[in-house]
Amino acid sequence: MLELANVSIETNGHRLLENISATFPKGHFGAIIGPSGCGKTTLLKLVAGIAPGDEEGTVLWKTRDLSQQDFAASEIAYVPQFGVAHEELTARECIHFALRLRVRRADRPDSEATIESLLEETGMRDFADQPVKTLSGGQRRRLALAMELTCQPEILLCDEVTSGLDPHSENEIVRLLHGLSRRAGRLVLSVTHSLEHLSLYDSVTVLYKGALAYQGPPDFLAHYFGVDSPDQLYARLALREPAEWAASWTKHRNALADAAKSNSQPNDPSPETDADLPSSPGPVSQFLTLFQRRLLVFSRSGPQLLLQAGLVLGFPLLVAVFALDGIPAVKNLSMGLDLDVLTRLNEAREFLIQSSKVGSLVSGIVMFQVILLTLMGANNSGREIAAERGIFEQEKLSGLSPLAYVASKAVFLSVLVAVQSTWMGVFVHHVCGFPGNLGSQLVMLLLVNAAMTSICLAVSSLLSSPEQASLVSIYLVGFQLPLSGAVLALPDLLGTAVRPFISAYWSWSGILQTLRGERYYDIVQTVVQSPLAPAALCIAVLSIHIAAGLVIAWIGCERRKLA
Ligand SMILES: Nc1ncnc2c1ncn2[C@@H]1O[C@H](COP(=O)(O)OP(=O)(O)O)[C@@H](O)[C@H]1O
Ligand SMILES: [Mg+2]
Repeated sequence: MLELANVSIETNGHRLLENISATFPKGHFGAIIGPSGCGKTTLLKLVAGIAPGDEEGTVLWKTRDLSQQDFAASEIAYVPQFGVAHEELTARECIHFALRLRVRRADRPDSEATIESLLEETGMRDFADQPVKTLSGGQRRRLALAMELTCQPEILLCDEVTSGLDPHSENEIVRLLHGLSRRAGRLVLSVTHSLEHLSLYDSVTVLYKGALAYQGPPDFLAHYFGVDSPDQLYARLALREPAEWAASWTKHRNALADAAKSNSQPNDPSPETDADLPSSPGPVSQFLTLFQRRLLVFSRSGPQLLLQAGLVLGFPLLVAVFALDGIPAVKNLSMGLDLDVLTRLNEAREFLIQSSKVGSLVSGIVMFQVILLTLMGANNSGREIAAERGIFEQEKLSGLSPLAYVASKAVFLSVLVAVQSTWMGVFVHHVCGFPGNLGSQLVMLLLVNAAMTSICLAVSSLLSSPEQASLVSIYLVGFQLPLSGAVLALPDLLGTAVRPFISAYWSWSGILQTLRGERYYDIVQTVVQSPLAPAALCIAVLSIHIAAGLVIAWIGCERRKLA
């Protein structure tokens, strides 16, 4: 039994729910209705333990005060209005991954059979192998239900899962929910704006501007509100203040309580004790599942694959355009003492011009590689979390560890970073004949790409929309070149203040350091606008950037986002 006793919620001085008391037995199918903005979603979130603001009153589940001991992830499922799943996967794959993320291996001895029975139960068998992007609205809601049912929750909370559906699909979904409430003593609470199928429910809860106006059997509803049909209910509600409705309901509640009791159908009379609850899989298992799913989604995303291939192959070519004939060798001054003064001056002038050209070319090619890799970094991760935030929040609710999630992103992105940076370094080294030690240069290229990827992953975890996140990521890349001080000298104070944050500077500096001992190093020194930092410091700073990005991404994932 779920029991709310005098529950209120307040946020920013605004009462979202006011003194709600209601009970819902096991095996019960309850509708929550009311005009838009009356607090229906807030009530569901309150039960799920994710409501915004300060709570008063108590919520009891069985004999447990939920403020003391929250639901286990497998006890409760929350189905949002728009089912959330990866568009590239098939319905069966979505259920498969949901099962692996939510239920320990030991508790799912026969996954295939479980998936088949879930497909059957939700009427999804015929669409099981269709990609999510081809599913209709009704099929998506069924899929969302199937995914939530993988952990066999005792409470199923559905928020407007029939909204926007045609009457036929709506009818089917309500009947499906009704059926689900008749199994294993499951409590199903469904927020709905449709007053069509009220007779299928065991109880109807009417909210009006945060107040409880009614909670009882559907066939008393019209009588209680003095209307001919439920359609007139909302107009009727508007005639009185919420406090009046609440006071009136408090008076009538006792009289109706008995009737409500006899109307509910507790089909599982077992005592309400906590059985051994299945716990969520450990973080390592979740990490492996997420990583595998990410690879599968990536392999199915045609445009993303093409873009990645285009960047990996195209960007090094872009660099090569500037040094297709290789880096010119720098001729020595002959230092011939026997030459006359004029010839010596001419030679020195030529050397200066030539070395300034070569120095700028070497420094420019390094910076160009670095900037292109930061651009790839931003493209790697700017949308990575923000684009699937809804799915992630849903999975977090059902027991997904944010650490496992961020780790799966980090490992997946590392693969991209490794391919992009290695190919860039190897290509430029061999095709342009870029001097210096390739191994050390690859380290710097890998680090700068990883740093930008990691920082943009953090951005992606902090912002709500993928568009915002990728825009901010691109801005971050845009600042790299001017603030690196590699092209135009920065004022001393500004340079010192911003340099620690500019990944491109450290990578550029580190790569130029690999030329130490070669002629190019001295020449580059004469043309660069900023001092070069020692290689070890460059590696340290870039590693800090990577670590900071990952930690912020983790914090961003721990924090709840979206409705
Ligand atoms: N996080 C929040 N912060 C402040 N106000 C909120 C928040 N969530 C919902 N509200 C407000 O609470 C009221 C009830 O919202 P909600 O429960 O979503 O309504 P319903 O689902 O019935 O349409 C609305 O006025 C809404 O603006
Ligand atoms: Mg709502």
